[in-house]
Amino acid sequence: MTSSEKYFSISVNIFFLTLTFYTGLSQTIPYLKKELNKTQLIVDDKPFLILGGEFSNSVSGSINHMYSTSKPYPRKKYTMVNGSLGNDSSKNMDYDGSVWSQMEDLNVNTALVAISWEMIEPEEGKFDFSIVDAVLKGAREKNIKVIPLWFGSWKNGMSSYTPLWVKKDYKRFPRSKTKKSGSVEVVSPFSMEARNADAKAFAALMKYIKKIDSSHRTVIMVQVENEVGLLGDSRDRSTIANKLFNNEVPKDLIDYLVKNEKKLMPQLKELWASTGNKKSGSWSQIFGSSVWTDLVFTSWHYATYMNYVAKAGKNEYNLPMFVNAWLEYEDRPNPGGFPTGGPLPRVKDIWKAGAPDIDFISPDIYGGDFVKWCNAYTSQGDPLFIPETWWTKPEYVAYMLYAIGNYNTLGVAPFGIDRVNPKEEPLLAEMYSAVNYLSKDINKNQGNKDKMIAFLLSSEKPFVEFKMGKYMVKAELYKRRGTYRVEDAYGIIIRTGDNEFSITGSKAVISFESINEKEKAGIGTVDEYIDYEGNWIKGRRLGGDETNRGRGVFLPVEGIGVQKVITYKYK
Ligand code: DGJ
Repeated sequence: MTSSEKYFSISVNIFFLTLTFYTGLSQTIPYLKKELNKTQLIVDDKPFLILGGEFSNSVSGSINHMYSTSKPYPRKKYTMVNGSLGNDSSKNMDYDGSVWSQMEDLNVNTALVAISWEMIEPEEGKFDFSIVDAVLKGAREKNIKVIPLWFGSWKNGMSSYTPLWVKKDYKRFPRSKTKKSGSVEVVSPFSMEARNADAKAFAALMKYIKKIDSSHRTVIMVQVENEVGLLGDSRDRSTIANKLFNNEVPKDLIDYLVKNEKKLMPQLKELWASTGNKKSGSWSQIFGSSVWTDLVFTSWHYATYMNYVAKAGKNEYNLPMFVNAWLEYEDRPNPGGFPTGGPLPRVKDIWKAGAPDIDFISPDIYGGDFVKWCNAYTSQGDPLFIPETWWTKPEYVAYMLYAIGNYNTLGVAPFGIDRVNPKEEPLLAEMYSAVNYLSKDINKNQGNKDKMIAFLLSSEKPFVEFKMGKYMVKAELYKRRGTYRVEDAYGIIIRTGDNEFSITGSKAVISFESINEKEKAGIGTVDEYIDYEGNWIKGRRLGGDETNRGRGVFLPVEGIGVQKVITYKYK
């Protein structure tokens, strides 16, 4: 730097510091802060917990739809077909308000909204960002943050959101091929033309977001593509894919494996060990000849393609970026039954090696063992964000609260949030409101099990006990006269002082014992807190039947409660 450049840079810094001081506005854009046992998303210099909701795919397919309060663009009721979200039914939802008011009523603080390649680049090189403007306008009016979902080359394993000029030009943008069907409507991850065109469009989007949002910071993270991977075969069978499959495994991947050998995910470790941990050779020579080798190969190529796209975007505007996975379920356990190549835990290392510019991988949890998925995604100390899950079954509200309290999650977001009527299904909104109220304490105590724990109880596991400070804290299914009266319960307990606890959740009884055998623990006071028209106020001082004659904290059997407790010791 020359001395005049130095002078300029110091003046600019002083200008921004002064601006920050006088306006209270931060100049830093959202970023991930990694510490030893937690990663937090920092927005405007403070940890931000995402209480999100993902819009159904086509909500942002019309600006009018997004803004209308009802007619002629009503929101649809959801339908469940074989346990999945069906197409919109013909029934409209009884909610008169724009999708943004709906988010406000649901206490959602972040909307995950599709921004597709076809929307922003309908003709090659000609960009139209009106949908981005509309999304940000609606969100800002309600003080809601936004996570754009970049539906570029892929969305749920297919390429339905690529512009028509990409779809039609299959020579320039070749398709993947499967053994059974030949060419399929999936852009090949081996097409560098497609990769470059996607990256150009994504970079243009990020440049635009920077221009209109870096001083507002409504956009806090970005999802790159959506549930990628190839369905119907364990790998692409195109000529270029076959050629690459017989090539040497890239050195970058081998170097990563060697460096991280001890902490590789178990499935990959095993696969590599099955050939004697070879350090050079083709994919089959290094990983053997099974469909799992196809999966590793495909994952590498999706990861490197998407890293290229993400990096092009980050070069324009460096927001945190993540990818999401269609998980593998028991009914379709093999690659191709689920999209092969997607960011699953078993290939987490391949994604880390191939996509170092992608900040983390995340699960869309619609089934299987929720806790198992959270454990797999947080193994190796990785952060957890759940961009899609159910809200239709109440147990998922429990799971989300558990993820918030137990996994230091960056946040959660049920899918199809625009189909949740806050009037008819208040549980999610109640949970979000309670967490929002306690969010300062939650953010402060993330990663510290002595200060914050979460519990998820069932008939098989009716109680759990934790040491918190000088107490053993027991959370148990709601019971009366020695009999459990519920089949599940969930909540978060935060120790806010030596003898003070804030508790939220449902259907559990919480009791305290001293860890010092010479002392006993008693319940001093219990106060309930209530959400009164959006403001949290102190409710009743609880006692008698409501605290089991002073012996515990009773969370409500219906809905989510917040109670604050002061404990004491006696002899
Ligand atoms: C997962 C996808 O990522 C979403 O975009 C949506 O299609 C849901 N599945 C529908 O259940």
